[in-house]
Amino acid sequence: MAVKSTNITPVEHRIAKRDRWAVNRHRGGVIWFTGLSGSGKTTLAFALEQTLFAQRYNAYVLDGDNVRHGLSADLGFSPLERAENIRRIGEVAALFADAGVIVLTAFISPYHADRRRARDACGDAFHEIFLSADLDTCEGRDPRGLYSRARRGEIPEFTGISAPYEIPEDPELIVDTGRHTISDCLEQLVAYTERAFGFESLAIGKSE
Ligand SMILES: Nc1ncnc2c1ncn2[C@@H]1O[C@H](COP(=O)(O)OP(=O)(O)OP(=O)(O)O)[C@@H](O)[C@H]1O
Ligand SMILES: [Mg+2]
Repeated sequence: MAVKSTNITPVEHRIAKRDRWAVNRHRGGVIWFTGLSGSGKTTLAFALEQTLFAQRYNAYVLDGDNVRHGLSADLGFSPLERAENIRRIGEVAALFADAGVIVLTAFISPYHADRRRARDACGDAFHEIFLSADLDTCEGRDPRGLYSRARRGEIPEFTGISAPYEIPEDPELIVDTGRHTISDCLEQLVAYTERAFGFESLAIGKSE
């Protein structure tokens, strides 16, 4: 992306991050789900949001199709446009995280470089979670019939069929949605979130 903004001076926030966390009783940050279409990003992100909300966490899902209706309505699926889509989401997620929210993002995000950039936008509060169901499993599920359409050549550049998926090399967590039930996966995710973001994680001495 060519940077065109000049004469810009960022303004310091008056409220310290830790003060926001203390009020919320949890950290802010990004839980970045990545995986093939049908791996369960939407299913698990919304289930996690509901569970966290019930436990008084301030959590919010950014989901692929919703974002493509608005923020990224002008973008297609070429590698460059996917990169720009993920760049925008990474920046928006970083702002939410800074505001103290736990953002759950549900995007295929198939390229290392794009996920790396989203991580860089957010810093330490970025948690990459790979939903590791393989192509056969995801294609077998095909909840929205997208794989069938991609196989028929009706959807160009479909991840796993006619576009690559680069497997995360060092994610914070791998959840094997091909082998575990939805409720088992959710349990793993809730436990992880509580550890990484919960009140206990605010203890004095823990780094920001
Ligand atoms: N352990 C599991 N975790 C998540 N989903 C599961 C699991 N087992 C079965 N499923 C089913 O797999 C499907 C996952 O679809 P979902 O729309 O959540 O995938 P997605 O990763 O968001 O795909 P897309 O990239 O196309 O949006 C759902 O029909 C869900 O019920
Ligand atoms: Mg989805």
